[in-house]
Amino acid sequence: MNWSQDKIRAFRKALLDWYDAEKRDLPWRRDQDPYHILISETMLQQTQVATVIPYYERFLTLFPTVAALAAAPESAVLKAWEGLGYYSRARNLQRAAKQLVADHGGQWPQTAAALRELSGIGPYTAGAIASIAFGQVEPAIDGNAFRVFARLFCIPDDIAQPKTRAVFDRVIRQVIDPARPGDFNQAIMDLGASYMRAKDPDPAHSPVAAFDESLRTGRVLDFPVKTKKPRPRPVPYLALAVHSPAGYLFVQRPSTGMLATLWMFPLFECPPDIPMLDHQLQAAAAQFEASSGVALHLADGGFKPVRHTFTHQQWQMTIVTAETEAFALDYLPGRWVPATEVDTLALPTVQKKLLAAMGLGEA
Ligand code: ADE
Repeated sequence: MNWSQDKIRAFRKALLDWYDAEKRDLPWRRDQDPYHILISETMLQQTQVATVIPYYERFLTLFPTVAALAAAPESAVLKAWEGLGYYSRARNLQRAAKQLVADHGGQWPQTAAALRELSGIGPYTAGAIASIAFGQVEPAIDGNAFRVFARLFCIPDDIAQPKTRAVFDRVIRQVIDPARPGDFNQAIMDLGASYMRAKDPDPAHSPVAAFDESLRTGRVLDFPVKTKKPRPRPVPYLALAVHSPAGYLFVQRPSTGMLATLWMFPLFECPPDIPMLDHQLQAAAAQFEASSGVALHLADGGFKPVRHTFTHQQWQMTIVTAETEAFALDYLPGRWVPATEVDTLALPTVQKKLLAAMGLGEA
């Protein structure tokens, strides 16, 4: 970073004048309530603004205060999160609300360091809340900020490396506006979503074009530098649609791991060394019998295979069906759910895709 103090001041003015004139009208920008900022920033971490808006509005209607969120049943919080993915975000939000009530008497800590003590709050969210709600001079470094500053300064460090955050932190602390840190951070986010977006950017017309070293040197798309993640590993599953007069069998997933505690059809990972579907069905039926005590006659459901991609895995699911009597669910963490009541459970998107493939709902 070799900008003069005059250049830094000019940059802040260009950025904030543009923000004041053009900032996006977003529901979480209507006040500086730290609870509102926490909810919106948590939702926005893995999800696009347009998707987040209705979830944000509904979440605050259901849980208008920290105390309301702390007191809610976890199932209601997960239900409100349904479809957003990365459900540990929802659980952590509620844990943070409980911490605020129990350990802080409902009072918010105001520094980034103290905010980071709350469940699920990492450096980005802590910086966003500290700057936007409390006016602290703290960077909020998300993917947008990485991209914008990597381009402005042609920073060559690999943003996939955890240690690179400190490099950006040092640079941003030199340029952030101490008088308006929250607006500065949000202006960077808006730049990163518009003129300086990842794909098809338009940096020549950005309000900070004159400060953009990557533009000056014709290397805009070379930044940020980011090594590729490995492709999600394919995981083949049989998804069992077991139907009885009492409804479909749903089982609750274990309390740790992917989609923890959410409700799904029983899934059986297909042993890759058994290639034939009917052999796989036999293996799944045997596993089912071992865990439930009930023998099932499974059949290829004749439905299209369903794929769902997570960060590290792609589930490739074949739906198999069985009709049975409603047996007692003594050995399974399961319950029978009539088709008409399926939408009262917190269902992950992958389960909705299964139901949609069977003509039982919308994904
Ligand atoms: N992305 C992450 N946080 C945001 C915010 N506060 N405004 C707009 N986009 C964002």
